[in-house]
Amino acid sequence: MTHKIILDTDPGIDDAMAIFFAFQHPDIEVLGLTTVYGNVPVSMAAKNALTLCEMADQDIPVTQGVGMPWVGPESSYAHFVHGDDGFGNTFPEPSERELDPRSSAQFIVDMARKYPGEITLVAIGPLGNLALALRLEPELPKLVKGVSIMGGAAFVPGNVTPVAEANIWNDAHAAAIVFDAKWPLTMFGLDVTLKTPFTLPFLDKLEDNNEKLGGFVKRASQFYADFYSQNRPDRVCFFHDAFPLAHLLHPELFIIKRGHARVGTSELDRGQTVIAPEGSTASPLWTEAHKVDVAVDVDHEKLEQLFIDTYAY
Ligand code: BDR
Ligand code: CA
Repeated sequence: MTHKIILDTDPGIDDAMAIFFAFQHPDIEVLGLTTVYGNVPVSMAAKNALTLCEMADQDIPVTQGVGMPWVGPESSYAHFVHGDDGFGNTFPEPSERELDPRSSAQFIVDMARKYPGEITLVAIGPLGNLALALRLEPELPKLVKGVSIMGGAAFVPGNVTPVAEANIWNDAHAAAIVFDAKWPLTMFGLDVTLKTPFTLPFLDKLEDNNEKLGGFVKRASQFYADFYSQNRPDRVCFFHDAFPLAHLLHPELFIIKRGHARVGTSELDRGQTVIAPEGSTASPLWTEAHKVDVAVDVDHEKLEQLFIDTYAY
């Protein structure tokens, strides 16, 4: 079975690793890359997405989306994690290709109308494009198959504040809209992605299996590993963004908990994803909240092998 997806992204090193994984896998059809600010400003995210398409020889639409949070001023960016260029200061040759003129939100709506019930939206950056698409087309939840996001921290601490993960913290109001919409939503947050460190031999294997794409991921990940290896004895990095894609192909690798979800939007709890597991409370404040699936664990070994094998295709 082929999974039709739109990848909403802010490339970003783990975004690049995930995008190449999606391109490489024969059972995933990427209809387009929709970009959003996050790790880098949106204009850089869009250019980086074009560069990745060119590297992978993929002629698919790339759109530029929202550059600001739903509420509040322009965000700060994560250059300290992803480098000045979003690619670990490797500065690959920029692409001459052109962007699709539509906004990311409009592209999502157009594709959902074209392929009703067939598309999974895979969002691996802040959620402004999805929130805007919901405003453009309120019937969107009925038009897509589901939504899988990298974001949030349900039962573990955050990575930007003690309670918030970066993608959700970056656009908490948009995330609240997306979590409330009546579509099947699966969340791959820090609960599962930080349980799964990838070591340098993993990067070597990606390169061995695919000199061009794996080699790029390996080079870009050196800066990323510098960031993630501060304050720990081993040298590792985390490929958060590839998790929802792996789940699409191999759900049996994951342990999922279902619960009612709320996203914090006030100063102290900004971007917090609070999950009340099913049956855990009778409070209407929670039982009336939309239910989502939350990944809490994964078979690390099999996940790693899936990435390595797919880079070899
Ligand atoms: C998320 O934030 C970004 O740095 C990564 O690309 C990932 O999407 C992890 O918190
Ligand atoms: Ca990302």
